[in-house]
Amino acid sequence: VEVFRTDYKPLPHLVTKINMDFVIENGKTTVTSELFIEPNSSVEGGGDLVLDGDESCVKLMSVSIDGKELEKGKEYDLEPQKMIIKSPAPGTVLKTVVEIVPEENTQLSGLYKSGPMYCSQCEAMGFRRITYYPDRPDNMAVFENIRLEADEKDYPVLLSNGNLVDSGKLENGRHFASWSDPFPKPSYLFAAVVGNLGYIEDTYTTTSGREVKLGVYSEKENVDKLHYAMDSLKRSMKWDEDKFGLEYDLDLYNIVAVESFNMGAMENKGLNVFNTAYVLADKDTASDADFERVEGVIGHEYFHNWTGNRVTCRDWFQLTLKEGLTVFRDQEFSGDMNSNAVKRIEDVRMVRARQFAEDAGPMAHPIRPESYISMDNFYTATVYVKGAEVIRMYNTLLGTEGFRKGMDLYFERHDGTGVTCDDFLQAMADANDVDLSQFSLWYSTPGTPTVKYSSAYDASTGVFSLTLEQESKSDKPLHIPVSVGLMDKESGEEVVPTTVLDLKESKQTFEFNVKGDVVPSILRDFSAPVKLMPDSGAVDEEALAFLAAEDTDGFNRWEAGQRLYTSSIFQNMNGKESEKTLQYVFDAFERTLKGEKLDDYSIQAYALLLPTEATLSEEMEIIDPTAIHKARGAVKQKIARKFQNEISAKYEELSGLVEADGELSVDAKSIGLRRLRNVMLEYLCSIKETPEEQKAAAELAKKHFENASGMTDKMAALSALASMEGKGTEARDWALQKFYDDADGYSLVVDKWFSVQALANLPDVLDRVKKLTKHPDFTLEVPNRCRSLVSVFTMNAPAFHNPSGEGYKFIGELLVELDKLNPQVSSRLASSLIRWRRYDEKLGALMKAELEKLKAMKPISEDLYEIVSKALD
Ligand code: ARG
Ligand code: ZN
Repeated sequence: VEVFRTDYKPLPHLVTKINMDFVIENGKTTVTSELFIEPNSSVEGGGDLVLDGDESCVKLMSVSIDGKELEKGKEYDLEPQKMIIKSPAPGTVLKTVVEIVPEENTQLSGLYKSGPMYCSQCEAMGFRRITYYPDRPDNMAVFENIRLEADEKDYPVLLSNGNLVDSGKLENGRHFASWSDPFPKPSYLFAAVVGNLGYIEDTYTTTSGREVKLGVYSEKENVDKLHYAMDSLKRSMKWDEDKFGLEYDLDLYNIVAVESFNMGAMENKGLNVFNTAYVLADKDTASDADFERVEGVIGHEYFHNWTGNRVTCRDWFQLTLKEGLTVFRDQEFSGDMNSNAVKRIEDVRMVRARQFAEDAGPMAHPIRPESYISMDNFYTATVYVKGAEVIRMYNTLLGTEGFRKGMDLYFERHDGTGVTCDDFLQAMADANDVDLSQFSLWYSTPGTPTVKYSSAYDASTGVFSLTLEQESKSDKPLHIPVSVGLMDKESGEEVVPTTVLDLKESKQTFEFNVKGDVVPSILRDFSAPVKLMPDSGAVDEEALAFLAAEDTDGFNRWEAGQRLYTSSIFQNMNGKESEKTLQYVFDAFERTLKGEKLDDYSIQAYALLLPTEATLSEEMEIIDPTAIHKARGAVKQKIARKFQNEISAKYEELSGLVEADGELSVDAKSIGLRRLRNVMLEYLCSIKETPEEQKAAAELAKKHFENASGMTDKMAALSALASMEGKGTEARDWALQKFYDDADGYSLVVDKWFSVQALANLPDVLDRVKKLTKHPDFTLEVPNRCRSLVSVFTMNAPAFHNPSGEGYKFIGELLVELDKLNPQVSSRLASSLIRWRRYDEKLGALMKAELEKLKAMKPISEDLYEIVSKALD
């Protein structure tokens, strides 16, 4: 069933308090719940109480009031997805008993088993798979007494939200613990973890003096990999106090790492549950990117305590209220901890490659969607990262101080309640005394807006005018902040520093008084999630070359280089290579390689990297993955060959610096060094046409592998080796075997081993991937493992989009099996097939055929059905 945003109705009855008792036995968990029901004072009329419950998961054993069983058909009714209690009196205490089987819950929503532990995932609608309840975020209740009972030897750890209030031994080797959370919360923030776990402990004292006990838990053999998460947590707590004046509010903060987890992590009050991939990290097993992700996600979930938990969403259409805002906060945190400029480049790459792609497909939706069949399908790049870009625009328009004032007012007004995106906007507007009504269109407009620019300089008056014209799916023009700086053409000096232009009309001209002609640097820092393009359609390469060399804004200097690379790649694709463009590309590359105007290794590395195939795809009306791959590869080769000596020299120079760096550390500088050196390695290894070249490339990569300072270098070498053929074959096979053996069964490293092979640039990669699905370590039941091979393969564009259609068929067939196990994972994977209209007729038809087969499949999950049917509409 499709649900619409505008159909929102408040609940006539609220559960204001709940007690629960979990009796966990092997193969059966009995859940007894007491719901304290009150009429909702803001709703007239009363009527029936509707509780959500997923009959495919919970088996109702009894329902009673004051010890009296209710009569079915008379006092209550049961439907597959709900229980209806006929007109309950105020003050009613409803008691239900249900049985669930977490051991058989392969969907990983509700209570399920992962390795040696039972754990829960309730967002968005998993609580109804645990008990009957108004499972929506506008029902806030105190979870007063949550009692967990299990065998003491097998499950020594019993955790839930809030504070531990009681615990003890019971007969037959069993024990229990009771937890109480003083903060009223919606059911999606409930959590329970019961298992045989190890942990590390620490404390953090807040500015106002609250001492908080911190615990990070995992399977016992991984406890030594929890320290980075703990440090990240403390840094997050401090940062939120410094930046937003927000302190933690309970005496306890626990994090549990779980191997089988659908998403990244979950911000349950006082008890975060994490995918192991975002908690576990040590120098031998985690790459720099892994360390950064752990820090970022630990921060993200911690920041949710205020932006999500203390102030939550009224209904699920408002998801970006908490997610967009919290992503913005975690981005700022990561930037502050490492480098803001680098983080911005990484985030923009993500918006362009993933969010723009979503906008250009059948699942395009505004950051606040209008309808859904399965809410889990809307935890998207649009809601999260475009949502964060919208928050960033408030920050740009209001300034850091104005934004902070808005945040303060938002908490002052809404603490302890569930609200809407409109409430957030209103707080921002009122705190700054500005009108944001036009800005609100960002919440209802799907798709990527475009901004076209043209400019003119009048030498007689010294007026430079910049004309901006916007286009979007909105009837009325959007309010788009466009950050602009002007650079003097002659001197290369910045003559107008970054200025935020308020583009509010469909076409608007902005004038500047200058002393000579200038080059505009537009959309600095990617001030709005739009596509910027010249009005004429033709890129001014001379201006780009100028900006790539001179722009005082680091982000736009990087951007100009990327645009030049892009021009050259498309020229190559269309067989119309211009020497001039290539020269600009060479100049930009050379300057960057020399490190002119650069003080940051990471930025230097990113500026030397060509745009990804995914980013290039978004520049094409009809995507040709094979042509993109070829053209990008060709330009890369040209650069590599032209600068082979310089790149080699740089590689050696950096090798010396990496060595001098000593013991591996994950600060921004060391990360940058490795990043830049690995880009050098990538270019050098791309030269492998002749047998001699193959041998040289393989030797270099093998040496890099053997001398790797840690997982980052190891992976860089292994991904180069994984694509080697001819004289490189032996080194490739050796390294893959070695890497696997060294992993020693540790899941997160075995995942990398699968991924690197799925991404290999080899003619028979599909056969290899198919064979790997039969590997004893492969399983569809653990999402990380499934994604590490199968989802990662769909990102290997030339292989997945092979003209034979075999790649699509492989995914289509796998989805049949996967959907029975885990709909959330299957619908995510199916997203790889839905953009069939973006490809040529042949590829499109092959993708469509797979979608049609899936649509006809019976049974099919709601999640998958929504994705495939929207794709075929
Ligand atoms: N709130 C979590 C986060 O962003 C994501 C949970 C998503 N879960 C889901 N089943 N869709 O931190
Ligand atoms: Zn989140």
